[in-house]
Amino acid sequence: MYSSGLTQQLQSATSHWLSKIIQQSFIDTPEECQQLRKILQFHEYRYYILNEPLVSDYEYDQLYKLLQRSEEKNPLLITPDSPTQRVGSSLNSQFTTVSHLVPMLSLDNSYNADDLTDFDRKARELTGLDEIEYCIEPKFDGASISLIYEQDQLVRAATRGDGVEGEEITNNIKQIRSIPLSASFSSFGIQQVEIRGEVIMSKSSFDQYNQLQASRNLPPLANPRNAASGSLRMKDPKDVAERGLDAFLYHISFYTKESNNPAAASPLLDTHGGNLSLLWELGFRSPEKEKKVVKGIQGVIDYCTAFEAGRDDLPYEIDGMVVKVNDLHLQEKMGMTSHHPRWAIAFKFKARQATTKLRGIEFQVGRTGAVTPVAKLDPVYLGGVTVSSISVHNEEYIKEKDLKIGDTVLIERAGDVIPQIVKSMPELRTGTEENILFPKNCPVCSSLLFKEETEAVWRCINIECEAQVVERIIHFVSKDAMDIKSFGEANVRKFYELGLLKDIPGIYTLDFDKIGVLEGFGKKSLDNLRTAIEASKQQPLYRLIYGLGIRFVGETTAKTLANAVEHLLDYQTKTEEELQQLEDVGIKVAKSIYQFFSNDQNIQMLKQLESLGLQLKNTKKENGGSGSLQGQTFLFTGTLTQLKRSEAEAMAEAHGGQILSGVSNKLNYLVVGEDAGSKLEKAKKINSIKIISEAEFLQLVAAQ
Ligand code: IVH
Repeated sequence: MYSSGLTQQLQSATSHWLSKIIQQSFIDTPEECQQLRKILQFHEYRYYILNEPLVSDYEYDQLYKLLQRSEEKNPLLITPDSPTQRVGSSLNSQFTTVSHLVPMLSLDNSYNADDLTDFDRKARELTGLDEIEYCIEPKFDGASISLIYEQDQLVRAATRGDGVEGEEITNNIKQIRSIPLSASFSSFGIQQVEIRGEVIMSKSSFDQYNQLQASRNLPPLANPRNAASGSLRMKDPKDVAERGLDAFLYHISFYTKESNNPAAASPLLDTHGGNLSLLWELGFRSPEKEKKVVKGIQGVIDYCTAFEAGRDDLPYEIDGMVVKVNDLHLQEKMGMTSHHPRWAIAFKFKARQATTKLRGIEFQVGRTGAVTPVAKLDPVYLGGVTVSSISVHNEEYIKEKDLKIGDTVLIERAGDVIPQIVKSMPELRTGTEENILFPKNCPVCSSLLFKEETEAVWRCINIECEAQVVERIIHFVSKDAMDIKSFGEANVRKFYELGLLKDIPGIYTLDFDKIGVLEGFGKKSLDNLRTAIEASKQQPLYRLIYGLGIRFVGETTAKTLANAVEHLLDYQTKTEEELQQLEDVGIKVAKSIYQFFSNDQNIQMLKQLESLGLQLKNTKKENGGSGSLQGQTFLFTGTLTQLKRSEAEAMAEAHGGQILSGVSNKLNYLVVGEDAGSKLEKAKKINSIKIISEAEFLQLVAAQ
């Protein structure tokens, strides 16, 4: 898509614009706007399609904002394919029905090697050939879409609907960054084109989104497929953007040629594999890297088998492979039935659904007192693991799924995603099933449970409830919080049960003599534990705040809170209104923070932690306002010997520095370790960059 010459050209244009931003707040000419758009499109391609960004998110944002400001000032400069036009589209009040240019057919299915051999036999009969060339690619597990480009611009996107008519969802599709808003089909002599593909949600986006749902007390999405298809019909495109969707485009279903354009004769237009390359060339995420072209059915069987074995390692869900006759002229000859083409077949992987019996419900109390019902099941083997318990979230969820003890339930595990109950099977009931009764009292401390009107969750509000105390300590020592290595969940539970640990400050007053006599605690593990606890006292304030487990305060809010005061206890005097002034802090979050700091027990605990040596001061502020490396940018390259890369970066950031992802004239310091490569070469060409060693970096930090 971008030759190395063009890449270099765009990268140096990037540096040019980045250096100009300081003096220039707007650009006025259509030509310069167009150049900036090209640069932004290039960086989107590097980021979303290749996964190899050349600029930091910050630098991208600077350029994006420059374009946005300029377009806002002079709307005549806006073009429909401008990166700014992805966001800010209006609400979809309703979705209009549109006809597909070519019906979106479904695929016939196969389940084993015999089915594939059968398919090949029929294909050879239909074509009269001895051997057929096939193109094989993954069968993406998402929601199918059709896109129409005219004169290189994306003009319409639609859902599959009934295959003949779908719903127009252009605004929502524009939120998906891997779908280009314009693509140079004209360079292949193509005037109008309809392409098909699948909108998917990667496993990591799915997990992230469900974490967000949990932090908002909303039920999780069932699986990435539902998540993707549900997203396409959302009313507000901003909600679509939040879901981090992606799209694979795998089929050119229709195109018209520009008359008399010799480019329309490209050999890429003759085969399916060629079509995938053409889409890739034009900047689409087609399965170019995942496809395989083979002659004869044995190669097809081998590739499908190998792909199924590696299925869990993919970053997204697939439910099988699609086998297509590669030659498009042969495809045409073979034709289609009313349901599916005769030139393609889906090879479905083994199902990851199973049925089992729901034997009981256990109620678990979490760190915030939330009582979560967990279904206990007859163990069943599913997608590589044995499943015997599954969270059923809350009372409403149980009602919605119509679950009773003794029911047969259908469960599903999609890849490495947590298993879910898909549904109960009331038709198999015998009459002996029992209703699930939600407890009125905490199953651990017996206090009365409470439920707020706006919430689905019942809570134990006794903050001394044992279950909550243990969960709070586990959270405090966890990796993203105080990161006390070699502590871990099992040790917290063990020490708590033995009466050696009863609250968070207790971590810092542990009796190592008593722990030393426990089984499994030799001198070395004891030393490791002691060192890790000691080291955690120096953790930055935001980690401590996050570790306190204040409801709705995730890592980002913890960072905001840490930066906004001189000392953590300053929050005792802040009102809810003042807290709401902070970034990302809404009414609910402010209320929760306010309640935390109004509670005397919490304040006593914080004072105790400070007296035990923990850092409650905002050290960045102490260092002269906002960090002594404030305003300086850093990039580390090569192998460092004294620090890990992540440690060095954290150190620079802790002193107010900013980390860049690539060499540009925005960079102040390149810190060079052993075997540094192209970044060093590039930095040497930019005079303003100071090239320093790891030792010099440490001196720089120490000198501040
Ligand atoms: S080709 C006429 N290729 O599977 C050919 N479909 O069960 C149409 N799908 O509706 C489809 N990955 O939503 C094709 N690589 C792929 C696919 C794929 C997923 C979906 C598509 C289709 C369904 C059929």
